[in-house]
Amino acid sequence: MALLEARNVIKTYRKNDEAITVLDNINFSANEGDFIFIVGPRGQGKTTLINVLSGLDKPDSGLIIFENETLTDKDEEYLAKIRREKMGLIFQDVHLIPSFTAVENVESPLYPSEFSEKEIREKSLQLLEKLGLKYRVEHFPEELSDGERRAVAIARALINEPKIVFADEPTAGLDEEWEKKVIDLLRTYNSEKKATIIFITAKNTLVKKYSRSGDKIFEMKNGKLVSRSS
Ligand SMILES: Nc1ncnc2c1ncn2[C@@H]1O[C@H](COP(=O)(O)OP(=O)(O)O)[C@@H](O)[C@H]1O
Ligand SMILES: [Mg+2]
Repeated sequence: MALLEARNVIKTYRKNDEAITVLDNINFSANEGDFIFIVGPRGQGKTTLINVLSGLDKPDSGLIIFENETLTDKDEEYLAKIRREKMGLIFQDVHLIPSFTAVENVESPLYPSEFSEKEIREKSLQLLEKLGLKYRVEHFPEELSDGERRAVAIARALINEPKIVFADEPTAGLDEEWEKKVIDLLRTYNSEKKATIIFITAKNTLVKKYSRSGDKIFEMKNGKLVSRSS
């Protein structure tokens, strides 16, 4: 059974008199535990696709179905709740809260919560330690390197143990060492929790280097999603 499905999804942007169909009848499904790469050059609609799949944006037509429930007809409040409880989003722009330390940024999605502050702190510290950020937990975003900031954003996306993670070019601009760390981290999360990972990238070389048999690979081109065998 599919965890997430897109059926005949169409999204067109209009600017002045020009219309660009960014998502041109997309049909897609992701199962529990899938590691999915979506690769395509800039401007091909990858971010738009993630926004539509996660309910941040609505398609013009078509359906998004998550855990057998249609999301496309739900209101913002409900969708925000689903995202908070079940989805992890790693944005292309990292968006950390500048006045929060690394650990406070990681904890931010958990409040308000039935867990105590102490429990939340422990959980966040454990995750940051796993990421090799043990000595950075009290640093503010401006005191971190690009790779470290990404890692914090990833920890923040994983803290609520989402069933599905949308990672929008999470390694863009990182050196090879951090690129590998980020991918390893998502791999580990994928195998430990049987979570689904949707990994967006503009780099074909990254897919060649890091994909494994069993992964699903799609190419995004002219508004279409084309399956490619790994
Ligand atoms: N809010 C918007 N209004 C108009 N055009 C947009 C908007 N968002 C994205 N686009 C256009 O849609 C296309 C796909 O954008 P995007 O989804 O960001 O692609 P990618 O993530 O693959 O770089 C681009 O041509 C972009 O200019
Ligand atoms: Mg993008």
